[in-house]
This record gives sequence, structure tokens and C-alpha cells, in this order.
Amino acid sequence: MRTTTATAPGKVILFGEHAVVYGRPAIAVPVTNVQAIATLTDGPAGAGCSIAAPDINAHVRLAANPSDPLALAVGLAIQETEISSEPDWQLSVTSDIPIAGGLGSGAAVSTALAKAVLVHVAHCRSCQPDLETVNRIVFAVEKLHHANPSGIDNTVVVYQQPVWYLRGQTPQQFKIGQPFQLIIADSGVASPTAAVVSDVRRAWQSDSSRYDEIFDGIGSIAEEARQAISAGRVDSLGELMQENQRLLRLLDVSSAELERLIAVAEESGALGAKLSGAGRGGNVIAVAASENVVEVREALLDAGAAGVLVAQVDSYS
Ligand code: MEV
Repeated sequence: MRTTTATAPGKVILFGEHAVVYGRPAIAVPVTNVQAIATLTDGPAGAGCSIAAPDINAHVRLAANPSDPLALAVGLAIQETEISSEPDWQLSVTSDIPIAGGLGSGAAVSTALAKAVLVHVAHCRSCQPDLETVNRIVFAVEKLHHANPSGIDNTVVVYQQPVWYLRGQTPQQFKIGQPFQLIIADSGVASPTAAVVSDVRRAWQSDSSRYDEIFDGIGSIAEEARQAISAGRVDSLGELMQENQRLLRLLDVSSAELERLIAVAEESGALGAKLSGAGRGGNVIAVAASENVVEVREALLDAGAAGVLVAQVDSYS
């Protein structure tokens, strides 16, 4: 009996959400303070393959529910191996990444499961599975969650690196000139990505020239932000976040609660703040000079944020 464990981090989008679905660039970074953990244990002969996710009270059998998102991640990973019949495995996945909060919980769960399968089959505890394969699997599962994912969430979670992402192109890592801290505040409002992405699509279909202009503006901000981050000009990120948030409001993906948390962050010393992910709920991110980070974090907690993380943005090797 062998057991294999694999993990995957959360993520935040720094700049460019929604516009990235329409081919504009975006920047996302992993959030390693939170993670999904998958465990795979060999079961008795004939037991078949089952997957438990106790956090969401889910228990699926691979053979009976092959298109369930948990089963699909495992099933697609098995297809990448030499295994040709259902293995006798018990998988379990847990996660402390808030669900439907814009932190990539679905992508992280799929990534941890797919990695556990590939590492288990490779019989090597410390090896890394082929990340391009894992990314392809997780992207396929993301398509179940929402019909038209850009691919940014799976990419940043699988590679665990800050990414500069343009749909359809090989994701690029980029230089972090000076590591900085990001304050991530959870509004506590669950907002499934699929619903918000399809509302934006409907709006774009009804007035594409107006929406394309907004997406262009967001893309230019992402471009400027990339240059600022690479040059270590963290100070200029605040203003870029404010400008990105102004355009996200025009897309109608903000909410009163997100605006309240953004105002609290800015009034307590953040250089700028914006929503992150699909919006309407989920998380707000803020950037602050290092001496103000604690104050901003406390102000957000006092204002009722469901949780506040402080994540370091850096290149990981
Ligand atoms: C969701 O985390 C980010 C969106 O841009 C959707 C996507 O990129 O697929 C809203």
C-alpha cells in the first residue's frame, strides 16, 4: 500500500481579468498561503477508484461519474499513463482556498488530484509531473466550471509562478524587479465565475465596440503594470489598480461590498486596490508600502472582511 500526496496553491489576478477572455494580456500570481492537498492511497483489489472531497461533502466513484469535475481530473490524468483499467485507489482532496472567491480553488483541486495520479504512477515521491500535461488536464476541467475560460487560472496554479498571460500563447514568466506584498481581503460573498463571465459576454455581444474599448484599456494597464513590476516600481501599481478597477466598474462586475472594502483599503493607507477574479463577490486585492501593510490588513478585518491574507509576490524557482 502506497500513499502519494500532491499540493497546489491558490492564485490571484493582479491585472486584466475579463479582458483576458477576449485576448488581452493579464497578470496573475500564485498565492501559496492557501492550498489544495490531494492524497492517493492504494485500496484493496477490486475496490475501484473513488474520490472524496470532505470540504464540499462530495464522494464520487470514477466509473459511475466520469464527467464530475473531481472524477474528470483523475480520469484525464489516468489517460496520460499506461493504466488501461480502473485502478483500485482512494483519493481525497481538501482545500483551505475559499470556494467561488476568485482564488482559483477549482483549478487548485484539479491540479492537486492530477499531480497525485501522475506522481503515484511514476513511483517517485519527489519527482515533478510534466506540468504541460497537468495544465492541459486542468484546463479541460475548467471548461466544465465555465464554458469559456481564458486558461489563466489553471496556468498560474499549475506552474506556481507569476505569469504574463495572453490567450492561445505560451504563458510567459516575467521578472519581479522587487518582491512586494499583496493584501487579499475576502468579501465572504461567493460568486461563481461562470455567471459573471456569461453576463459580460452578453453585454459585449450587445455593444461590442464599447466593450472592446474597455478591454483595450484594461490590456494597456496590464502592459504598464508588467513594466512597473519588472522594473521594481511597486509605487506605481496603486494607481494602475485604481484605473483597472474603474474599468471593471464599467463592465458591471463590481458590487457595493467590494467597493466598500476597496475604499477601506485605500483610506487606511493602501496605494490602490481592486477586485480580483470574476467579481460581484470574492476577493479584493490591495498594494501598500511595506510599513502600511499591517494597518491596511487590520482595517479590512475591522471592516468585516471574512479573511485577509498577506501574500508575497516573488519569483519562485
Ligand atoms: C477568473 O478568475 C478570471 C476571468 O478573467 C475568467 C477567465 O479568465 O477565464 C474572469
